Amino acid sequence: MIYVSRQEHFNAAHKLYNPDWSREKNYEVFGPCANENWHGHNYDLIVTVKGYTDPETGFVIDLKKLSNLIKTEVIEKLDHKNLNLDVSFMKGKMASTEILVKEIWSILEPKIPPITSFGQLHSVKLYETPRNYVEYLGE
Ligand code: NI
Repeated sequence: MIYVSRQEHFNAAHKLYNPDWSREKNYEVFGPCANENWHGHNYDLIVTVKGYTDPETGFVIDLKKLSNLIKTEVIEKLDHKNLNLDVSFMKGKMASTEILVKEIWSILEPKIPPITSFGQLHSVKLYETPRNYVEYLGE
């Protein structure tokens, strides 16, 4: 089994705020991410496909096709957007990296086999900061 990854980048704004809690509790739990007037992150997204090599190309997946898929289905919907307000699949959800990475998985997972017969989605890793990242393997 071979693992092939593509990294993409986007910027987005969000806040982490539970409307059922007081302002004080939101700041206590979420710290500066609770700022009512939003803040931004530079996100790095790493998508990994696992599989076997196509005997005709030697590829598990054509990384140009994977890059185009990630850009069309994910990056264009998130880049320079407000995750809480602008992104349809995040409506009504907490704009945490954990929730976002699961949503990205749900979007990409069914679209990987059509662009490769030899691979399937293995993981989606999302860096919110260079030191904080979340990885989802679909379960
Ligand atoms: Ni934040």
